[in-house]
Amino acid sequence: MAPLIDSHAHLNFPEFEPDLDQVLSRAREAGVGMIINVGADEASSARAVELSESYPQLWAAVGVHPHAAAEASPRYREKLAALAANRRVLAVGETGLDFYRNLSPRPVQEKVFREHLELAAELNKPVIIHSRDAHPRTLQLLREMRPPRGGIAHCFSGTSRDLDAFLELGFYISIAGPVTYPRAHELRALLKDIPADRLLLETDAPYLSPVPHRGKRNEPAFVRATYQRVALELGMELDTLARLIQGNMARLFWPAKP
Ligand code: NI
Repeated sequence: MAPLIDSHAHLNFPEFEPDLDQVLSRAREAGVGMIINVGADEASSARAVELSESYPQLWAAVGVHPHAAAEASPRYREKLAALAANRRVLAVGETGLDFYRNLSPRPVQEKVFREHLELAAELNKPVIIHSRDAHPRTLQLLREMRPPRGGIAHCFSGTSRDLDAFLELGFYISIAGPVTYPRAHELRALLKDIPADRLLLETDAPYLSPVPHRGKRNEPAFVRATYQRVALELGMELDTLARLIQGNMARLFWPAKP
């Protein structure tokens, strides 16, 4: 059985401090072989890198979430760049726009998003995008600045036009626990429109637990429920899906040199 991969989790958040070792052992038992811990601010980015140095199955992404954009320190870019020099850092993110909660003012979100896209280009790394109620503007900025290594539309939900626009930019589409929710008919209907070579899966732990774990803190072991549901929807064996996603991750993060 190919290992399951959680393309987006936050074991770097305080929620996992008390029982990280148990969380990791449950992930191992569930067949999860690789987890990317994604930074949401400077401290959690540093913590993601630290964890990746202690546990071989953990990798990191560094960035400031749009919610935290207004609190980024004046030297945050230098800090992220220094962290990204570590070979366990696979991507810049999460970054993007959140016009649903607007926890940081929109102009600040846009400035910080642009700066992340510049950083990703300088570092030659993919970007991990958070976009909520903001797809048109997110896509506009991505088209304008076109990250050279592409990236991941994390916890994707949107219309088929949004999907096409991310695909057009060379992005991978990462599907999270909501695909298992009873009312997520539209998201499930979109699954078959995601090319097999662009699909990724994630938990976004500690948020968005899939069925049957809904209401509990999410953790990487639960990505198995999302794999199972997506395999069912696509009429695929679980192992076939796991292999497919393993190949997609490898292509995105470790492309063959020309
Ligand atoms: Ni996240």
